[in-house]
Amino acid sequence: MRDLPAEEFPLTGDRILVTGGAGFIGSRLVRQLRASAEKTVVFDSLHPQVHGEGATFPDEGANVICMKADIRDGDALRSAISDHTPTLVYHLAAETGTGQSYDLISRYCDVNVGGTARLIEALRQSRSPPRRVVLASSRAVYGEGAFQADDGSLIIPASRREEQLKAGDFVPRDLAGRALRPVPTPESLPPAPASIYGSTKLMQEYLLEQGLAGMATELVLLRFQNVYGPGQSLRNPYTGVLSIFCSQILAGRTLNIFEDGEIVRDFVFVDDVVEALVKAGAAAAPGSTPINIGSGTPASILGTAQFLLKILGAPEDRFLISGDFRIGDIRHSVADIARACERLNWQPRFSLKKGLEALADWARQEASSSR
Ligand SMILES: NC(=O)c1ccc[n+]([C@@H]2O[C@H](COP(=O)([O-])OP(=O)(O)OC[C@H]3O[C@@H](n4cnc5c(N)ncnc54)[C@H](O)[C@@H]3O)[C@@H](O)[C@H]2O)c1
Repeated sequence: MRDLPAEEFPLTGDRILVTGGAGFIGSRLVRQLRASAEKTVVFDSLHPQVHGEGATFPDEGANVICMKADIRDGDALRSAISDHTPTLVYHLAAETGTGQSYDLISRYCDVNVGGTARLIEALRQSRSPPRRVVLASSRAVYGEGAFQADDGSLIIPASRREEQLKAGDFVPRDLAGRALRPVPTPESLPPAPASIYGSTKLMQEYLLEQGLAGMATELVLLRFQNVYGPGQSLRNPYTGVLSIFCSQILAGRTLNIFEDGEIVRDFVFVDDVVEALVKAGAAAAPGSTPINIGSGTPASILGTAQFLLKILGAPEDRFLISGDFRIGDIRHSVADIARACERLNWQPRFSLKKGLEALADWARQEASSSR
């Protein structure tokens, strides 16, 4: 990871609360903050699904304080805020599995929606609220995302129906049955979440917008595309398709490629996301409307899986295009990242090739150290 030189680091005077700060993105963010911020407070329950049973915080150094606490615990949030008076809050703690969200609806709502409500209440009760809150929202709020109709207008297709998918027809279609052409999704597209997880992420945005209104605390909403890279849980079967692929390849398993392999994602490298978070904390006028954070580049699941097989030294044909599908999965996801460039002066630095090589190196090391 490229640590920003001290003179480039913009948050030196801040006391920073990071909910979910032990997670994949949060821990990379904390690594960046710990050297330069005045104080960083990690607030995380160390969810066993992500960290394993009995996990503890790594030693982050003198100016990082770790609190093992649940985001649904209003008293713990109030203590974190009154004891450390953060000037900046990154809210990342969440349940994150799209597929799992259908099986654990109340848990996803309690943690993502209820937890955000508790956080807002604690902030509103604070005598010295932070200058800014940055939310890690998701592209899941767009559902199927932007497609273009014949007349050039942007439309959001309805979620693909089970009968259509069962028949092996995976392409989003308009009401007349015509295949639609995907285009990068701009933030101006109205939200249309296609999963319980997506709905909870949209609700986080709405609650923060409404709950912080009238306060001096600014809000920055970042909508991440598929974040990948070293540190993503290799044990959590519900998130991170590329980590899951790495684990399966290193275990000698055949990759199950869903649908026809032509699902498209916008994979954005974790260090690019961390840089966007830092800039979102520091930017002079980021605005309160959402900002997409992605690579802006489409990548098919099949092509990406084949590249991982190759760089991990596995037989390149060790995959099966199964036609399996999951209700709520979307077909095509690529962000229009113009707003992030303009408002945050941010753009991704990692190509997919470079990022996948870093992921593969890390996954290989993890696999050999756990043997
Ligand atoms: N990784 C992605 O591709 C991606 C994409 C879009 C949005 N996001 C968002 O970014 C944020 C971070 O995601 P991540 O990939 O680092 O996930 P992660 O699962 O690695 O990290 C989430 C962290 O939150 C903690 N947590 C979970 N439930 C908690 C609770 N009840 N109380 C306190 N802490 C709790 C977990 O222990 C974990 O450390 C999430 O809000 C997620 O919705 C991630």
